[in-house]
Amino acid sequence: MACKIIIDTDPGQDDAVALLLALASPDELEVLGITSVAGNVPLELTTRNALMLAELAGRTDVPVYAGCERPTVRPLITAEYVHGVSGIDGANLPDPTTVPADGHAVDFLIETVMGNEVTTLCTLGPLTNIAVALEREPAIASRVDELVLMGGGFFEGGNTTPAAEFNIYVDPEAAAIVFTSGIPLVMMPLDVTHKALTSRANVEAFRALGNAAGHSVAGMLEFMERFDMERYGIDGGPLHDPCVIAYLLEPELFSGRDCYVAIETESELTMGMTVVDWWRLTDNEPNCLVMNQIDNDGFFRLLTERIGLL
Ligand code: BDR
Ligand code: CA
Repeated sequence: MACKIIIDTDPGQDDAVALLLALASPDELEVLGITSVAGNVPLELTTRNALMLAELAGRTDVPVYAGCERPTVRPLITAEYVHGVSGIDGANLPDPTTVPADGHAVDFLIETVMGNEVTTLCTLGPLTNIAVALEREPAIASRVDELVLMGGGFFEGGNTTPAAEFNIYVDPEAAAIVFTSGIPLVMMPLDVTHKALTSRANVEAFRALGNAAGHSVAGMLEFMERFDMERYGIDGGPLHDPCVIAYLLEPELFSGRDCYVAIETESELTMGMTVVDWWRLTDNEPNCLVMNQIDNDGFFRLLTERIGLL
């Protein structure tokens, strides 16, 4: 039976690839809904991008709910310097012909989790929507089967400050609520995603698929990888968010270990840092399966195969 998932996202080129991967995999993943959140770009754009991507995948049957406009405590920080003004520059998609579903993403999250036996949450952006849902209805914590998130970094450090990764840095208070909620967590930090690097060959393989999705993916990856190639001096860009969906489809592509993870919300210097007890230096019980390895060839094989189905 397909795993029932909700994808919470701030597209973002890498979010876009993650959405396409999930929507191309109906045998394994039943996408109950997509919830947008402010992050890479403001909410209006992340919602619009989600609609355009569902349409690109031919999956306008999947509802898109607009979520929180700003982080729980702090002002919003966006990342147009990475993703472009639209958030998905390079995709070259037409305007959406669909509109968001009625209602707020947080209400949808609560109702759906409470109404289903098993729901998996996939988070690709700041954790604002999930934290607000947990505060409003704490009972959802014991009903979520698993929450797989892209966020954080430990040996790899941060990508927004020296200590913090973007998704956690934007709303550290929300991340702290999620990491202390008791929901079984799986974390895809920069330690994994900086190994999920694009190459000339795999960008060209997407383009050679010959379908609209393959063209869009190639265009988006070429746009996004420029930033990281320049900053990190690497020969490709990291594909962060698709790691979350790839894990649900083929968990054996990843490895890591159960750790206790705490979120820094006090110190300005290390705000949003994910403090991972990788070496079990404390007696704190692990609250998260933290990944640090990926089979890069297998990951791109899976992505290319599935995007080719759209
Ligand atoms: C994360 O931040 C965003 O820029 C990406 O979409 C990804 O979710 C990487 O730090
Ligand atoms: Ca994202």
